[in-house]
Amino acid sequence: MSCQTGRVTGVDAVSIITTKRDGGELSDEQIDWVVDGFTRGAVADEQMSALAMAIVWRGMTRRETARWTAAMIASGRRMDFTDLPRPTVDKHSTGGVGDKITLPLAPLVAACGAAVPQLSGRGLGHTGGTLDKLESIPGWRADVDVPRMREILADPAIGAVVCAAGADLAPADKRLYALRDVTGTVESIPLIASSIMSKKIAEGTGALVLDVKVGSGAFMKDHGAARELATTMVELGTDAGVRTVALLTAMDTPLGRTAGNALEVAESVEVLAGGGPADVVELTLALAREMVALAGLDIDPADALADGRAMDHWRAMVRAQGGDPDAPLPRARHTETIRAERDGVLTRMDAMGVGIAAWRLGAGRARQGDPVQFGAGIEMHAKPGDPVRAGQPLLTLHTDTPDALPGAVAALADSLAIGAAAPAGGAPLILDRIGS
Ligand code: URA
Repeated sequence: MSCQTGRVTGVDAVSIITTKRDGGELSDEQIDWVVDGFTRGAVADEQMSALAMAIVWRGMTRRETARWTAAMIASGRRMDFTDLPRPTVDKHSTGGVGDKITLPLAPLVAACGAAVPQLSGRGLGHTGGTLDKLESIPGWRADVDVPRMREILADPAIGAVVCAAGADLAPADKRLYALRDVTGTVESIPLIASSIMSKKIAEGTGALVLDVKVGSGAFMKDHGAARELATTMVELGTDAGVRTVALLTAMDTPLGRTAGNALEVAESVEVLAGGGPADVVELTLALAREMVALAGLDIDPADALADGRAMDHWRAMVRAQGGDPDAPLPRARHTETIRAERDGVLTRMDAMGVGIAAWRLGAGRARQGDPVQFGAGIEMHAKPGDPVRAGQPLLTLHTDTPDALPGAVAALADSLAIGAAAPAGGAPLILDRIGS
């Protein structure tokens, strides 16, 4: 078989590309063939790049997107936890700045009686990765094999596992996402939806809650596009037998008061201890209520947060993966404070600016495989709507590499604004809900 045409049983890469280029609909056979061929290396990267670009322009129908997702799942192993004694439910966020919600959420939902199997990723660019955050806990390991995952999920004192996806989970997506990243073909709703949902469906969860972020610090900048992505993912999950609901949530300003790995772990522990920033608590409880309802459990997660059960599950979950929940978290060696220039009300703290600054300080990575600084990041001492006085600290920047400070300060230059009064009516955090 040749990489130029890849002809097999009348299906070939060039005709698949030209069909999509000209606005046609791909058959199930064409989709199965091209995804399988790409995974095996029989369809060349340049052919898949051309097809991805045609999909960016022409889109895919619901049937095509569902088949594409199924083909990516079939490229690897689909896990099955249906024999566990408890219902399984997971959450996926499309990524935002300061989004540490998985950390309090997974143990909270486990404390409510569900099993939470979460295969997660490392961060790339301005949004942090859940595994990077958890790896800042001394001893904690992201590698958990499937038999051990099953033991943790079945244990009523733990019930939640957050770990790295194995190489056999939707390998077609791994290859395709890497190719899209370097060919300007990430921005396509069918490709994003199938990429996310192939991994979540293959992970074997029975139910799924999606947190689709909208705003300056999110992948989706406007409500309409976010709604379309959420609807596509809810349909894909439902069609694959996974009960799926999506919340659209605001990401114009960072979540909580920290962005950066160890800083976010500390804030998550505050939430589990009954404190923490109001927005983090609100979103954690909103997502937990959706997850618990999808799991068919009749319990209010607020009770499990208030009485310390969620904290007990957090400590057990950290220990189950080798971590010490009592060990001091890493701290960066250098800090710099940014202060308010005048009296007034903080009217703007842009999520993208804060995310890029945290990334430049060392909290994130530019390339896959780069190390991250666990202590690096940003503490926010005020949030939009708060009154501030001239000279008051607004942000503390943390880094091990002081050379990074000017770049971080530059990223924040247009991200903060102080006005005379707070904008009327605080912006809501939860914007919309999709799913039955
Ligand atoms: N996250 C994914 O997993 N895939 C995409 O295509 C975009 C974001």
